[in-house]
Amino acid sequence: MREINNIVILTGAGISAESGVATFRGPDGLWEGHRVEDVATPEAFQRDPQLVQTFYDERRAKLKTVHPNAAHKALAKLEAEWGGDFLLITQNVDDLHDRAGSNRLLHMHGELLSGLCLACETRSPVRGRLSDDPACPHCGEVAMRPDIVWFGEMPYQMERIELALAQCDLFVSIGTSGAVYPAAGFVRSAQHYGAQTLEINLDPSEGSLYFDESRLGKAGQLVPVWVEDMLHNG
Ligand code: OAD
Repeated sequence: MREINNIVILTGAGISAESGVATFRGPDGLWEGHRVEDVATPEAFQRDPQLVQTFYDERRAKLKTVHPNAAHKALAKLEAEWGGDFLLITQNVDDLHDRAGSNRLLHMHGELLSGLCLACETRSPVRGRLSDDPACPHCGEVAMRPDIVWFGEMPYQMERIELALAQCDLFVSIGTSGAVYPAAGFVRSAQHYGAQTLEINLDPSEGSLYFDESRLGKAGQLVPVWVEDMLHNG
Protein backbone atom coordinates (compact mmCIF):
# COMPACT_ATOMS: atom_id res chain seq x y z
CA MET A 1 0.00 0.00 0.00
CA ARG A 2 1.42 3.40 -0.97
CA GLU A 3 2.24 6.04 1.63
CA ILE A 4 -0.45 8.68 2.15
CA ASN A 5 0.70 12.17 1.31
CA ASN A 6 -2.06 13.66 -0.82
CA ILE A 7 -5.64 13.63 0.53
CA VAL A 8 -8.81 14.57 -1.37
CA ILE A 9 -12.08 14.81 0.55
CA LEU A 10 -15.60 15.09 -0.89
CA THR A 11 -18.42 16.24 1.37
CA GLY A 12 -22.19 16.32 0.92
CA ALA A 13 -25.27 17.45 2.78
CA GLY A 14 -24.77 14.84 5.54
CA ILE A 15 -21.82 16.76 7.01
CA SER A 16 -24.07 19.76 7.63
CA ALA A 17 -27.07 17.76 8.92
CA GLU A 18 -25.96 18.00 12.56
CA SER A 19 -25.70 21.78 12.14
CA GLY A 20 -29.40 21.83 11.27
CA VAL A 21 -29.18 22.16 7.46
CA ALA A 22 -31.68 19.86 5.73
CA THR A 23 -30.28 17.11 3.47
CA PHE A 24 -31.70 16.73 -0.06
CA ARG A 25 -33.04 13.22 -0.08
CA GLY A 26 -35.10 13.02 3.08
CA PRO A 27 -37.52 10.16 3.74
CA ASP A 28 -40.26 12.05 1.83
CA GLY A 29 -37.95 12.57 -1.17
CA LEU A 30 -38.44 16.34 -0.88
CA TRP A 31 -35.97 19.17 -0.28
CA GLU A 32 -37.53 21.52 2.28
CA GLY A 33 -40.98 20.56 0.93
CA HIS A 34 -40.10 20.92 -2.77
CA ARG A 35 -39.36 18.41 -5.51
CA VAL A 36 -35.76 18.97 -6.62
CA GLU A 37 -36.94 19.49 -10.24
CA ASP A 38 -39.11 22.42 -9.09
CA VAL A 39 -36.27 24.40 -7.53
CA ALA A 40 -32.95 23.06 -8.85
CA THR A 41 -33.17 23.11 -12.63
CA PRO A 42 -32.75 25.93 -15.20
CA GLU A 43 -36.24 25.02 -16.49
CA ALA A 44 -37.77 25.63 -13.05
CA PHE A 45 -36.08 29.06 -12.94
CA GLN A 46 -37.42 29.94 -16.39
CA ARG A 47 -40.92 28.78 -15.45
CA ASP A 48 -41.18 30.46 -12.06
CA PRO A 49 -38.17 32.66 -11.21
CA GLN A 50 -39.87 34.16 -8.15
CA LEU A 51 -40.45 30.74 -6.55
CA VAL A 52 -36.85 29.69 -7.18
CA GLN A 53 -35.37 33.00 -5.99
CA THR A 54 -37.49 32.91 -2.84
CA PHE A 55 -36.49 29.30 -2.15
CA TYR A 56 -32.76 30.15 -2.26
CA ASP A 57 -33.35 33.44 -0.39
CA GLU A 58 -34.79 31.34 2.44
CA ARG A 59 -31.84 28.91 2.37
CA ARG A 60 -29.44 31.90 2.43
CA ALA A 61 -31.26 33.52 5.35
CA LYS A 62 -31.14 30.20 7.25
CA LEU A 63 -27.32 30.26 7.13
CA LYS A 64 -27.40 33.01 9.77
CA THR A 65 -28.94 30.55 12.23
CA VAL A 66 -26.56 27.59 11.77
CA HIS A 67 -22.97 26.98 12.77
CA PRO A 68 -20.12 24.65 11.77
CA ASN A 69 -20.15 21.37 13.70
CA ALA A 70 -17.36 19.12 14.96
CA ALA A 71 -16.94 17.49 11.52
CA HIS A 72 -16.42 20.80 9.67
CA LYS A 73 -13.97 21.91 12.38
CA ALA A 74 -12.04 18.64 12.28
CA LEU A 75 -11.53 18.94 8.49
CA ALA A 76 -10.22 22.50 8.93
CA LYS A 77 -7.81 21.19 11.57
CA LEU A 78 -6.65 18.40 9.26
CA GLU A 79 -5.98 20.93 6.49
CA ALA A 80 -4.00 23.17 8.86
CA GLU A 81 -1.90 20.39 10.41
CA TRP A 82 -1.51 17.83 7.63
CA GLY A 83 1.99 17.89 6.14
CA GLY A 84 1.07 16.74 2.63
CA ASP A 85 -1.26 17.96 -0.09
CA PHE A 86 -4.90 18.46 0.73
CA LEU A 87 -8.07 19.42 -1.14
CA LEU A 88 -11.62 19.61 0.19
CA ILE A 89 -14.34 19.44 -2.46
CA THR A 90 -17.85 20.13 -1.24
CA GLN A 91 -21.18 19.65 -2.98
CA ASN A 92 -22.71 21.85 -0.29
CA VAL A 93 -23.84 25.37 -1.06
CA ASP A 94 -23.76 26.43 2.60
CA ASP A 95 -20.71 28.27 4.00
CA LEU A 96 -20.04 26.02 6.98
CA HIS A 97 -16.67 24.70 5.74
CA ASP A 98 -15.59 28.30 5.04
CA ARG A 99 -16.64 29.42 8.50
CA ALA A 100 -14.89 26.45 10.13
CA GLY A 101 -11.65 27.73 8.57
CA SER A 102 -11.17 25.52 5.50
CA ASN A 103 -9.17 27.29 2.77
CA ARG A 104 -8.18 24.64 0.25
CA LEU A 105 -11.86 24.28 -0.57
CA LEU A 106 -13.86 24.02 -3.80
CA HIS A 107 -17.63 24.55 -3.89
CA MET A 108 -18.33 22.41 -6.95
CA HIS A 109 -22.12 23.06 -6.87
CA GLY A 110 -21.83 26.81 -6.24
CA GLU A 111 -22.62 28.86 -3.12
CA LEU A 112 -25.69 30.38 -1.53
CA LEU A 113 -23.68 33.51 -0.71
CA SER A 114 -22.89 34.11 -4.36
CA GLY A 115 -25.00 35.34 -7.27
CA LEU A 116 -24.44 34.80 -10.97
CA CYS A 117 -25.30 37.56 -13.43
CA LEU A 118 -27.08 36.21 -16.49
CA ALA A 119 -26.02 39.29 -18.46
CA CYS A 120 -22.25 39.37 -17.85
CA GLU A 121 -21.72 35.94 -16.18
CA THR A 122 -19.83 37.52 -13.27
CA ARG A 123 -20.14 35.82 -9.87
CA SER A 124 -20.48 38.24 -6.98
CA PRO A 125 -21.20 38.04 -3.23
CA VAL A 126 -24.86 38.16 -2.16
CA ARG A 127 -26.00 38.74 1.42
CA GLY A 128 -29.60 39.82 0.87
CA ARG A 129 -32.51 38.65 -1.25
CA LEU A 130 -32.21 38.01 -4.97
CA SER A 131 -36.03 38.05 -5.18
CA ASP A 132 -35.73 41.84 -4.61
CA ASP A 133 -34.05 42.00 -8.08
CA PRO A 134 -30.76 43.73 -7.17
CA ALA A 135 -28.58 45.02 -9.99
CA CYS A 136 -25.37 43.17 -10.80
CA PRO A 137 -22.53 45.03 -9.02
CA HIS A 138 -20.33 44.42 -12.06
CA CYS A 139 -22.46 45.41 -15.10
CA GLY A 140 -25.53 47.03 -13.50
CA GLU A 141 -28.07 44.78 -15.24
CA VAL A 142 -30.95 43.36 -13.19
CA ALA A 143 -30.29 39.72 -14.09
CA MET A 144 -28.97 37.92 -11.02
CA ARG A 145 -29.72 34.25 -10.39
CA PRO A 146 -28.52 32.05 -7.52
CA ASP A 147 -24.94 30.88 -8.15
CA ILE A 148 -25.98 27.26 -7.74
CA VAL A 149 -25.15 24.48 -10.19
CA TRP A 150 -28.54 23.08 -11.14
CA PHE A 151 -29.33 19.71 -12.66
CA GLY A 152 -28.13 19.62 -16.26
CA GLU A 153 -25.40 22.24 -15.61
CA MET A 154 -21.65 21.65 -15.37
CA PRO A 155 -20.17 21.73 -11.84
CA TYR A 156 -17.38 24.22 -11.17
CA GLN A 157 -13.67 23.41 -11.38
CA MET A 158 -14.02 19.93 -12.90
CA GLU A 159 -10.58 20.02 -14.54
CA ARG A 160 -8.88 20.85 -11.27
CA ILE A 161 -10.92 18.18 -9.48
CA GLU A 162 -10.05 15.48 -12.01
CA LEU A 163 -6.36 16.31 -11.67
CA ALA A 164 -6.57 16.15 -7.88
CA LEU A 165 -8.35 12.77 -8.03
CA ALA A 166 -5.66 11.40 -10.33
CA GLN A 167 -2.93 12.53 -7.94
CA CYS A 168 -4.38 11.62 -4.52
CA ASP A 169 -3.30 8.74 -2.30
CA LEU A 170 -6.46 8.77 -0.21
CA PHE A 171 -9.99 9.75 -1.23
CA VAL A 172 -12.56 10.24 1.53
CA SER A 173 -16.28 10.78 0.96
CA ILE A 174 -18.31 12.19 3.85
CA GLY A 175 -22.08 12.60 4.17
CA THR A 176 -23.15 12.12 0.58
CA SER A 177 -25.71 9.68 -0.83
CA GLY A 178 -23.68 9.09 -4.02
CA ALA A 179 -26.80 9.75 -6.09
CA VAL A 180 -25.62 12.74 -8.13
CA TYR A 181 -22.95 12.62 -10.84
CA PRO A 182 -20.22 13.58 -11.52
CA ALA A 183 -19.43 13.66 -7.76
CA ALA A 184 -20.76 10.12 -7.32
CA GLY A 185 -18.10 8.91 -9.77
CA PHE A 186 -15.11 10.46 -7.96
CA VAL A 187 -14.47 7.32 -5.89
CA ARG A 188 -13.97 5.25 -9.02
CA SER A 189 -11.67 7.84 -10.62
CA ALA A 190 -9.51 7.99 -7.49
CA GLN A 191 -9.42 4.21 -7.23
CA HIS A 192 -8.52 3.89 -10.90
CA TYR A 193 -5.39 5.93 -10.19
CA GLY A 194 -4.48 3.80 -7.18
CA ALA A 195 -5.86 5.79 -4.21
CA GLN A 196 -7.20 4.19 -1.06
CA THR A 197 -10.86 5.05 -0.51
CA LEU A 198 -12.91 5.60 2.64
CA GLU A 199 -16.52 6.61 3.13
CA ILE A 200 -18.00 8.09 6.30
CA ASN A 201 -21.79 8.22 6.15
CA LEU A 202 -24.87 7.61 8.24
CA ASP A 203 -25.85 4.66 6.06
CA PRO A 204 -24.20 3.01 3.06
CA SER A 205 -24.26 5.33 0.05
CA GLU A 206 -25.28 4.18 -3.43
CA GLY A 207 -21.60 3.72 -4.30
CA SER A 208 -20.68 2.04 -1.04
CA LEU A 209 -19.27 -1.09 -2.70
CA TYR A 210 -16.59 0.98 -4.45
CA PHE A 211 -14.98 2.05 -1.18
CA ASP A 212 -12.18 0.07 0.49
CA GLU A 213 -13.71 0.96 3.85
CA SER A 214 -17.06 2.32 5.09
CA ARG A 215 -17.50 3.81 8.53
CA LEU A 216 -21.18 4.18 9.34
CA GLY A 217 -22.46 6.77 11.80
CA LYS A 218 -22.74 10.50 12.35
CA ALA A 219 -20.10 12.70 10.76
CA GLY A 220 -19.91 14.86 13.90
CA GLN A 221 -18.67 11.83 15.83
CA LEU A 222 -16.72 9.84 13.23
CA VAL A 223 -14.85 12.62 11.39
CA PRO A 224 -13.01 14.05 14.44
CA VAL A 225 -11.90 10.51 15.40
CA TRP A 226 -10.67 9.82 11.86
CA VAL A 227 -8.84 13.19 11.72
CA GLU A 228 -7.02 12.60 15.02
CA ASP A 229 -6.01 9.16 13.75
CA MET A 230 -4.64 10.66 10.50
CA LEU A 231 -2.71 13.36 12.36
CA HIS A 232 -1.15 10.95 14.86
CA ASN A 233 -0.75 7.75 12.84
CA GLY A 234 -1.47 8.87 9.25
P1 OAD B 1 -28.18 13.76 0.05
O1 OAD B 1 -29.28 14.39 0.82
O2 OAD B 1 -28.51 13.05 -1.21
O3 OAD B 1 -27.44 12.70 0.97
C1 OAD B 1 -27.00 13.01 2.28
C2 OAD B 1 -26.32 11.78 2.85
O4 OAD B 1 -25.84 12.12 4.12
C3 OAD B 1 -27.23 10.55 3.00
O5 OAD B 1 -26.56 9.40 2.50
C4 OAD B 1 -27.43 10.46 4.52
O6 OAD B 1 -27.53 9.11 4.97
C5 OAD B 1 -26.14 11.08 5.02
N1 OAD B 1 -26.26 11.69 6.37
C6 OAD B 1 -27.34 12.29 6.94
N2 OAD B 1 -27.04 12.74 8.16
C7 OAD B 1 -25.73 12.44 8.37
C8 OAD B 1 -24.82 12.64 9.45
N3 OAD B 1 -25.18 13.28 10.57
N4 OAD B 1 -23.55 12.19 9.32
C9 OAD B 1 -23.15 11.56 8.19
N5 OAD B 1 -23.97 11.32 7.14
C10 OAD B 1 -25.24 11.77 7.22
O7 OAD B 1 -27.09 14.90 -0.19
P2 OAD B 1 -25.87 14.97 -1.22
O8 OAD B 1 -25.30 13.62 -1.47
O9 OAD B 1 -24.97 16.03 -0.75
O10 OAD B 1 -27.04 19.42 -5.65
O11 OAD B 1 -26.61 15.45 -2.54
C11 OAD B 1 -25.86 15.68 -3.69
C12 OAD B 1 -26.41 16.84 -4.48
O12 OAD B 1 -27.79 16.59 -4.78
C13 OAD B 1 -26.44 18.14 -3.74
O13 OAD B 1 -25.21 18.84 -3.80
C14 OAD B 1 -27.52 18.90 -4.42
C15 OAD B 1 -28.55 17.80 -4.63
O14 OAD B 1 -29.36 17.95 -5.69
C16 OAD B 1 -27.28 20.71 -5.93
O15 OAD B 1 -27.87 21.49 -5.21
C17 OAD B 1 -26.73 21.11 -7.23
